[in-house]
Amino acid sequence: CGIVGYVGTEDAKEILLKGLEKLEYRGYDSAGIALANEEGVHVYKEKGRIATLREVVDNSQRGYIGIGHTRWATHGAPSQVNAHPHQSKESRYTLVHNGVIENYDHLRREYLENVEMKSDTDTEIVVQLIGRFAQEGMTTEEVFRKVLSLLKGSYAIALLDNHDPETIYVGKNKSPLLVGLGDDVNVVASDAMAMLHITNEFVELMDKEIVIVTRDQITIKTLEGEVISRDSYIAELDASDIEKGTYPHFMLKEIDEQPFVIRNIISKYKDENEDIKLDEDIRQTMLDADRIYIIAAGTSYHAGLVGKQLIERIANKPVETHIASEFLYNMPLLSEKPLFIFISQSGETADSRGVLVAVKELGHKALTITNVPGSTLSREADYTLHTYAGPEIAVASTKAYTAQMAVLAILAVDTAKAAGLKMDFNPLQELAIVANAMETLTDKKDKMEKIARDYLSVSRNCFFIGRAIDYYVCLEGALKLKEISYIQAEGFAGGELKHGTIALIEEGTPVIGVVTQHHVNLSIRGNMKEVVARGASPCMISMEGLAEGDDALVIPHVHEYLTPLVSVVPLQLISYYAALHRNCDVDKPRNLAKSVTVE
Ligand code: G6P
Repeated sequence: CGIVGYVGTEDAKEILLKGLEKLEYRGYDSAGIALANEEGVHVYKEKGRIATLREVVDNSQRGYIGIGHTRWATHGAPSQVNAHPHQSKESRYTLVHNGVIENYDHLRREYLENVEMKSDTDTEIVVQLIGRFAQEGMTTEEVFRKVLSLLKGSYAIALLDNHDPETIYVGKNKSPLLVGLGDDVNVVASDAMAMLHITNEFVELMDKEIVIVTRDQITIKTLEGEVISRDSYIAELDASDIEKGTYPHFMLKEIDEQPFVIRNIISKYKDENEDIKLDEDIRQTMLDADRIYIIAAGTSYHAGLVGKQLIERIANKPVETHIASEFLYNMPLLSEKPLFIFISQSGETADSRGVLVAVKELGHKALTITNVPGSTLSREADYTLHTYAGPEIAVASTKAYTAQMAVLAILAVDTAKAAGLKMDFNPLQELAIVANAMETLTDKKDKMEKIARDYLSVSRNCFFIGRAIDYYVCLEGALKLKEISYIQAEGFAGGELKHGTIALIEEGTPVIGVVTQHHVNLSIRGNMKEVVARGASPCMISMEGLAEGDDALVIPHVHEYLTPLVSVVPLQLISYYAALHRNCDVDKPRNLAKSVTVE
């Protein structure tokens, strides 16, 4: 979910709506804004996108202060009633919230027995509680601090008080929230990107802090009421980076940007002697670790699987890759000197953050590989490596994934060199070849479009098979396809097919095979024959040097360690066109959010 707030001298309506549009990647199943003026607080909310919200906002209503929200449903289905803002009894307080209140049921039974709830959300409990305690004579600030200290779980909250239409109260725990500073204007946002049209100067908020925001002042306090001072920082984001330009979709733009991203990574990680440039502390920490635990979710998890292979093969260090949301339940026995590497495009994924907090408590070191250096996972880890991919807007991750793998390759080689291992693989040079290969592929879009049309325009499912490192790319290819085209797609290890999956193959089932590694070429082709014998419609994607006559697509040759960065490109494009042919919303697929800040 995403939050915005504005208090200044201009009409807040358009500013809030524009901010929410920038935050739609955080969820878009319902949205709402509240505007305050002399007549009171006006709430507009609707199920669906910001575009739908715009239709219900009363354009004649003006207000110089307001809050807004775009939702990804957790408690309560997406609906108009469950959309934020929520209000207390008699509508004195209006509130928006990101996160999950774990003890909402307890709070309701304890304090709100006689209050009738309008929605099914955990959020409404918070605003009703504020309303209830305010009746007991406390000031709004006191009530706000008291209620936040009763909450268990994650929250970023913005609150308006009808009796004081000049102040926004905000607070956070575990969910991100920033306050932006301007001239005679201050703003609130869960991501700096949302308010770049107003300011690029921000103050970060820590867990269990509140801020009292007026037009000309912000006051940060602890939940106990102690005032805190904190310097602001300049968010180095370029507003034009988050425009689509001439592209029909962000996803296509981001796929096309991959060669530039890889070249950018090369230049950022290269020193004047053409060697790898990396923070000395990170180098030492990698060397000191006796085992590495990679923690990530979704596409970043798939990059982590490739990262394991790279670090083990290149730097000869044991690595385990884990799904963030499962790690704490199935925690492996840790080695003596573990290092945790968190991979996250957004740096905000709550599942990963949960693990980070737990391992920090155990006293372990953490390194975050992220596309957003100021993000929560970056701030809270000991070290950060930046993926320099530029803002990624499409929900389905593309350039962030290839960037993560590029940085992992550089890190692996740096560690190997620091450990004195003999190294004939130069990642900076090899990545330059990768960038060119990516370009060759993004220039062949008509080919990928044809594959999507031939294989995927009517099928209800699709399988991706590969072996060794190609298997990990198959997992990512299947994820891309299901995310945006809603075709049921799965990636399988070629050798595992016969142990169950092959039962799913029917006449015409599309099976996409990927092969970039010499040592598995024969065996994966054998698996393709097995599915063809059972009626599958085969589509083989192979690397130059391994190709055979009827392969559907041949990708340029790159170093064997780096093939996933290249073989994924056709899979991204095939998914894109499959979604397009099916009239799906490519950039904002149903039910998903780009940055999932709830566990
Ligand atoms: C969400 C997105 C996925 C993404 C995952 C991890 O589920 O929809 O595309 O891969 O989160 O996100 P992160 O920002 O941690 O890489």
